[in-house]
Amino acid sequence: MTEIIVSGMRPTGSLHLGHYVGVIKNWLKFQEDYESYFFLADWHAVTSNYHSIDVIKRSRHEYVKGWLACGVSTDKAHIYNQSDIPEILNLAQFFLTMTPPGWADRSPSWKDLKVNPNRRLDNLGFYTYPILQSADIAIVRGNLVPIGEDQLTHLEISREIIRKFNRLYHTDLPEPSPKLTKIPKLLGIDGAKMSSSTGNVITLQESPKSLQKKINKMKTDETRAGIESPGNPDNCSVFDYHKIFSTDTLKAETESACKAAQLGCGECKKNLGQTMKELLIPIADKMSKITDSECDDILAQGKKIVGEKIRNNWNKLRHQAGF
Ligand code: TRP
Repeated sequence: MTEIIVSGMRPTGSLHLGHYVGVIKNWLKFQEDYESYFFLADWHAVTSNYHSIDVIKRSRHEYVKGWLACGVSTDKAHIYNQSDIPEILNLAQFFLTMTPPGWADRSPSWKDLKVNPNRRLDNLGFYTYPILQSADIAIVRGNLVPIGEDQLTHLEISREIIRKFNRLYHTDLPEPSPKLTKIPKLLGIDGAKMSSSTGNVITLQESPKSLQKKINKMKTDETRAGIESPGNPDNCSVFDYHKIFSTDTLKAETESACKAAQLGCGECKKNLGQTMKELLIPIADKMSKITDSECDDILAQGKKIVGEKIRNNWNKLRHQAGF
């Protein structure tokens, strides 16, 4: 059986390094090994951005450009936009009607929303999020979903919904398994979780100047008295980035020189800037050469090809369920 992997990204702002490290880099491997469905989860984006739909509209193009520039290929993976294929919502509605509220109550992001005073809990989309996500997966008969540990409960809810659906309607939808990937912990420039909404991100299209400026703002070992005293790289956001992005040689040199008080933080930040430029400039260059209309063409092709497959799957399910 070919393994089918499904992964969506919510187009809610700029593509940033967190997306690159946490999602896109893994997609590059998946597209070689699996039948891959990578999509813009724009309905999921509406949940948090229903008052700023224009952001979603702009981000769609930026995301597709970023995916392509990083090496995601339409020859290897299906790329499409969720809201272009309405049958996904048909299945989501079917799932909604057979999901007990208690299952949705278990969603960790819903629980977090209810207690977090900084989040606005003002629409039911947050509550039904795992149900739509289950439909995203089931409608293409996905059996693998790349997730971090913190998303395991969401996938467990999906498995239960799909199991119940199969039992009720004698269908054979695969119960999706988590594809747990090691995702290095990449924090924003302020040391908090990297997120477009807090503005602590390094985007994939950061200009070299702004990139260095952001790196210069990052916190280093605060107990280090000065350049003449040894620093502790384990307690330094800049070294955290070196660990993820720099060559082994530069990593080792930085670590020993910092501990031996032979490398100042300013110089170390410049070195990191160089590493990041080598990674990001080619990506930004490629992104700037891809036009909006090329993105539209890719999404139109996804709508056609994936849309047809999804329509067939939906019609089959609907028929099997006697609906
Ligand atoms: N929940 C994912 C996120 O917040 C996006 C997503 C939506 C998704 N549907 C999915 C991921 C289906 C994997 C499979 O980024």
